[in-house]
Amino acid sequence: MKVASLFSGCGGLDLGFIQAGFDVIWANDFFKEAVETYKNNIGDHIVYGDITKIPSSDIPDDFDVLLGGFPCQGFSVANTKRNMEDERNFLYKELLRLIDDKRPKFFVGENVKGLLSMQKGKVIEMIVNDFKSLGYTVDYKLLKASDYGVPQHRERVVIIGNRLGLNNLFPEKTHGEFNDLFNYNIKPYVTVKETCGHLEKVRTRDKSFKLGSEVIHNHIARTNVADTFWGRKSKIDQHEICDYLKYWRKLSGWSTKRIDEHFGYAHTAGHWFRKDNNSGSIPNPSDWWELKKLLGFDDKFDLAVTELELKPISFEQSLRINNWERPSDTITATGPEIHPNKERRMSVRECAIIQTFPNDFIFKGSLGNMYKQIGNAVPVLLGKKIGDIIYHQLKYESEIIKIKKTKKELI
Ligand SMILES: C[S@@+](CC[C@H](N)C(=O)[O-])C[C@H]1O[C@@H](n2cnc3c(N)ncnc32)[C@H](O)[C@@H]1O
Repeated sequence: MKVASLFSGCGGLDLGFIQAGFDVIWANDFFKEAVETYKNNIGDHIVYGDITKIPSSDIPDDFDVLLGGFPCQGFSVANTKRNMEDERNFLYKELLRLIDDKRPKFFVGENVKGLLSMQKGKVIEMIVNDFKSLGYTVDYKLLKASDYGVPQHRERVVIIGNRLGLNNLFPEKTHGEFNDLFNYNIKPYVTVKETCGHLEKVRTRDKSFKLGSEVIHNHIARTNVADTFWGRKSKIDQHEICDYLKYWRKLSGWSTKRIDEHFGYAHTAGHWFRKDNNSGSIPNPSDWWELKKLLGFDDKFDLAVTELELKPISFEQSLRINNWERPSDTITATGPEIHPNKERRMSVRECAIIQTFPNDFIFKGSLGNMYKQIGNAVPVLLGKKIGDIIYHQLKYESEIIKIKKTKKELI
C-alpha cells in the first residue's frame, strides 16, 4: 500500500505510516535541513521544493493514501489583514489539489489544536467542506499523543477522509492517568523519566558516542537557562522615536538605503523610521550611538534607548521545565524546555525520544534547525497508530472486493 506525503518535514508522520506497513513513494518539503534529515533516515523519494510550484503531473499517480500536515500560519487570527478569502494563505488547498487530481483512497491531514477555534470554528468547517466537496467522507478529531503511549501531552487535530464509503476510524486510547478506574485496559501514561532517564546525567556533546551497548546521536542542547535578560530600563514610545529619527534623517540627507549600507544591514534601518512595525524597530544601543554620529542629532532619547537593566524573563514557555515523572508538555519548534537538572535545555535526542523517533534516527542541520524539525513533527508512534487503522481498513476493503469478485465469477 502506497503513500504520498506533502509537508513531510523530517518525516515523523511518514515514518509512523512506514512502521504501520505502508510504502512512502513520494514526499515533499521546502525546509532544506528537514529534507536532508528525511533523506538520510527514510529515503531519497523526498523532493525538495515549494509545493505550490510543483505541478500534479510531476507527482506519481499510484498511491493509496495522501498525507499532509499542512501549515496554518495563513489562518493567523492575529493578522486581521488576511481574510478567509485570501487563497495564498491556504496551503491545505495543495492537499485539496492533489486529492482532486490523484483521487487517493484515503487522506490524512494534521494540524494544531488552535485550528478548531480559528475564526470561531469557521476555518475547520470550510476545510472539511472543501474536502467533502471532492466526494470524500471526512471526519476530524483532537488526539492527545500521551493517550497513545507517547511521553508527551501533545494535542493535534487529525483530519481523515476516504472515498470508499467507509467510516473514518481514529485510534483507541491505550494510556491514561494511573487511577483510571473505569478502564482496566488503559496503561499508565509513559513518563519522560522512563524514556529519557538514561541520559539525565550524561554530558551533552556534538558527536555521537557509545553509552553501554547503545550509540547515542544528537545529544546536544542549548544551555540558556537563566531567568533574566538584559533589557531596556525605560519604557519607550516607539512612535515618538520614529518621528524623532525621521526628523534627523531628513535634516542630514541620508537615505535609509545608505544607512543600511553603512551598517551592513539589508532592511533594518527602514524600520527605524517607520511606524507600522511595532517590534524590534528601535535601534539597539550601539546602533543608536552610530546613528547619532551619522545624522548628528542631540541626546533627547539617549538614556531611554541606551540604559539597560537585568530583567526577569516573563515569556513562560521559554522557561518551562520539562515534566519528569509525567509526560512532557508539547515539544515546540522553538525554545526547547529546560531539563529538570536546570543546567541545560532538553537535548535534541531527548526531544526526539519524547517525539518517539527511533534512537538511530539522526537529525541534520544546526542545533536550532534540529529542534525545529522535531518540534514540527507528528510523534512517530501517533502516526503509526493512525496508519495501523487505515492499513487494516484498506486491507479489509480489498478483501471485500476480492470476495465480491469471486462471488460474481461463481454466479
Ligand atoms: C507541521 S510541519 C510537518 C511535519 C511532518 N508532518 C512530520 O511529521 O514531521 C509542516 C511542514 O510544511 C513545510 N512547508 C510549509 N510550506 C511549504 C511549501 N509551500 N512547500 C513545501 N513545504 C512547505 C514546512 O517546511 C514544514 O516542514
